[in-house]
Amino acid sequence: MSMQTRPARREDREALEQGILEMAQETEGIRLDPQTVRRGVEAILDAAQPGFYRVLEENGRVVAQLMITYEWSDWRARVVWWIQSVYVPPDQRGRGLYARLYRDVLEEARQAGAAGLRLYVDRSNHAAQSVYAALGMDGAHYQVFESMFDEPPREQP
Ligand SMILES: CC(C)(COP(=O)(O)OP(=O)(O)OC[C@H]1O[C@@H](n2cnc3c(N)ncnc32)[C@H](O)[C@@H]1OP(=O)(O)O)[C@@H](O)C(=O)NCCC(=O)NCCS
Repeated sequence: MSMQTRPARREDREALEQGILEMAQETEGIRLDPQTVRRGVEAILDAAQPGFYRVLEENGRVVAQLMITYEWSDWRARVVWWIQSVYVPPDQRGRGLYARLYRDVLEEARQAGAAGLRLYVDRSNHAAQSVYAALGMDGAHYQVFESMFDEPPREQP
């Protein structure tokens, strides 16, 4: 069995988009607009936006994915890596795949001199909260507040 964490490539675009659409549907019941998600993914793959994807590939298939963007910490004078778009397809769950991807990215962040890793998770997503806690992340410290100007664009029926 060959398994590796690697940067996402252009050929991964469809797998990444599929994972993001499935994740939003599963975790928040939202049918995101696929064209908007495509632009969101392409901007990162084209390096137009500051961030990157890491995928776990097993036998040529993307079996886990996440996106990293950055937040500057003036307390630490270092960047914090933010994790978003975490997804493992249902038939691959419970095999330690996200744990493998997370630990590889954690080590990469350490090597890159980042201050640490953060993420936010929907309050109702208890399964993901349990996973993050099992991997040693502290969910008790901050609450996230937001002021978004609109809802994410939805797929037209
Ligand atoms: C959350 C998700 C990424 C976890 O992926 P996974 O590959 O199944 O997780 P792993 O098998 O690597 O499990 C990691 C750890 O969490 C634990 N865990 C896994 N699923 C769990 C669950 N449903 N409840 C409690 N603990 C769980 C595992 O036991 C493991 O702990 P260990 O390292 O101490 O053994 C996956 O379930 C998923 O994609 N869910 C839908 C999308 C989603 O919720 N994304 C997050 C949005 S913020």
